[in-house]
Amino acid sequence: MSETHPTTAFDPALWAEAVAWQQECGVFDLLAEAPVDAFAARAAVQAAPETTQPPAIRAENQPKAPAVASPTTAPPKSPARPAVNQHARRGLEAVADIAEAEKRAAACSTVDELKAAVNAFDGCLLRETASHTVFGDGPVPSDIMIIGEAPGGDEDRQGRPFVGRSGQMLDHMLSYIGLAREQDFRITNIVFWRPPGNRKPNAGEVALCWPFTKRHIELVKPRVILAVGGLAAQTLIDPNLRITRERGKWRSLDVGGSAVPVLPTLHPAYLLRQPVNKREAWTDLLLLQQFLNDPESTKA
Ligand code: URA
Repeated sequence: MSETHPTTAFDPALWAEAVAWQQECGVFDLLAEAPVDAFAARAAVQAAPETTQPPAIRAENQPKAPAVASPTTAPPKSPARPAVNQHARRGLEAVADIAEAEKRAAACSTVDELKAAVNAFDGCLLRETASHTVFGDGPVPSDIMIIGEAPGGDEDRQGRPFVGRSGQMLDHMLSYIGLAREQDFRITNIVFWRPPGNRKPNAGEVALCWPFTKRHIELVKPRVILAVGGLAAQTLIDPNLRITRERGKWRSLDVGGSAVPVLPTLHPAYLLRQPVNKREAWTDLLLLQQFLNDPESTKA
């Protein structure tokens, strides 16, 4: 007699729970273009020296290791630690990395040089889990600069900003006010590498990328900036800004001594989740269009 197996009905809630559980365990890409040997990557990390850092930046900040124990005594279980604790040491490293980012960004006099400098910068740990550096797209110089949060999975795979679902929606919305990325605006993000699992970039990661983003703005010389989403608005305008309350209100950013108008708006990823708010985003785009026709309109 043939055995019959009970079939389990598809339960979307259980399915969502299983996916969330996998994400908590570190599974970020359920389907990548090429297989990833996570065991090999972990073995490489374990085999690497404790810090994988640009030596020029960190070597001089490392306190000297204490004298080695005499050969007759048993080796200590864990390597001797410098007198400075881990958190303080990481803090010092971060300060040195930000200073290095500032130095490298300031040395660039073209956007191509800046792109190369970002590609070569390994002070931000996000790049270790990213496939590509996502620097920017669109013409230089440009009257309009659009700045988002961070690359997502599609951007990470292609190395270009805003090419996934939310980017396509943004392009579509901008097309209704007559703007196309190939000719009308420069587009970039606050950070250049995809945070694992698409989490929000943390303050340290933003601080490490900011010298390059700031220089990017100086070199593109926009007449106006559209800050897309809370993180972009907080970084460009005010760390305490609440995007749902402050969107659509003109603010400004000091760029090399001149005030560039900045318009904060809702992130398209948020609009995909909450389509009812597209109406607000559309109002913001009309404000942008009004500014392009009449720059004095920001003062109204
Ligand atoms: N979201 C962003 O903020 N930037 C991108 O490039 C893609 C999605």
